[in-house]
Amino acid sequence: MNKNIAVIRGDGIGPEIVNQALLVLNAVADMYGHTFTYDDVDMGGCAIDKWGDPLPQAMLDKCLASDSVLLGAVGGNKWNDVPGPMRPEKGLLRLRVGMGVYSNNRPAKIWKQLASASPLKQSIVDKGIDFIIVRELIGGIYFGEHKTDEIDGQKVATDILAYSEEEIERIGRIGFETARKRRKQLCSVEKSNVLDSSRLWKAVMHRLAAEYPDVELTDMLVDNCAMQIVKNPAQFDVIVTENMFGDILSDEASMITGSIGMIPSSSLGKTSCGLYEPIHGSAPDIAGMDVANPIGTILSAAMMLRYSFDMADEADCIENAISAVLDDGYRSADIMPSDPTEAAVCKKVGCTEMGKLIIEHLRKG
Ligand code: IPM
Ligand code: MG
Repeated sequence: MNKNIAVIRGDGIGPEIVNQALLVLNAVADMYGHTFTYDDVDMGGCAIDKWGDPLPQAMLDKCLASDSVLLGAVGGNKWNDVPGPMRPEKGLLRLRVGMGVYSNNRPAKIWKQLASASPLKQSIVDKGIDFIIVRELIGGIYFGEHKTDEIDGQKVATDILAYSEEEIERIGRIGFETARKRRKQLCSVEKSNVLDSSRLWKAVMHRLAAEYPDVELTDMLVDNCAMQIVKNPAQFDVIVTENMFGDILSDEASMITGSIGMIPSSSLGKTSCGLYEPIHGSAPDIAGMDVANPIGTILSAAMMLRYSFDMADEADCIENAISAVLDDGYRSADIMPSDPTEAAVCKKVGCTEMGKLIIEHLRKG
């Protein structure tokens, strides 16, 4: 198969982790007889420096013309003081909206090799951590009106959180359908004891539930959910929630699996053209040092093969190679065990070396 992938390396560690993912994709193309072509897209801080805009229209157009988009990470301290609409993150938000990718899928699954890296007690980890957060991605407070007024001599800042029934319904359906393919438990997370938008959210979820009688729907308030994720994560199968709650809960969920560096994500809308990115940030403090963990990005590339290109075998092959490398004891700095006895049997490797090891395993099959 021929596929054209728009590649956004972005800022900080973005270029180094994306480069490893592309090498893995090349190896897969080679092994399975595919042709992947890459179209470079500037987005984020590097695009501000080069074009004065975090996502120039021509760059968005390249993404829209692609079969899917692979993204490293954007942002960094260098652009902290640029005005809101020109921030690097704004490029990402415009890309999500431009592509219409309303459904963000963030798995929180513990790798057995990294169980001891979880900050949770082993007795909690042993019960299993394997759930998915389905996050609404192009609505809510991220995209409501943002303004700062001067009222009675002081500044007053406003951000509007609005959801229409239609927006809730389309993400709700993804939640139910995702649960249907798994353990059939959907937890809808909101703040209906305070927010109107959450009351509407809850009502729409319950209306939809009638169409998915095989899925068990439960409701949970977001503050309680934040607590339950650390207290008893085994209870969750699929969580569906609005944009900002999903942003916060998915960072928490990633951490209990040991490292945010291991977590990929997919964002999809009405078409098969998706946006694939690790959920971690651009980590400017370690940029260029070849110590970043490329696995979140490599797993994101695997998700692209699975969900956008229908290449399940190829995706399995990447995931198995990663598992084999972890079995062999190789660890990037973020997933090195803190316990000295455990660390003694692990081998610390950098970003390039980790990519190389994964490719070696891929080729061994
Ligand atoms: C994420 C990030 C983004 C978000 C930022 C960079 C705008 O935190 O993908 O989770 O808040 O969505
Ligand atoms: Mg986030």
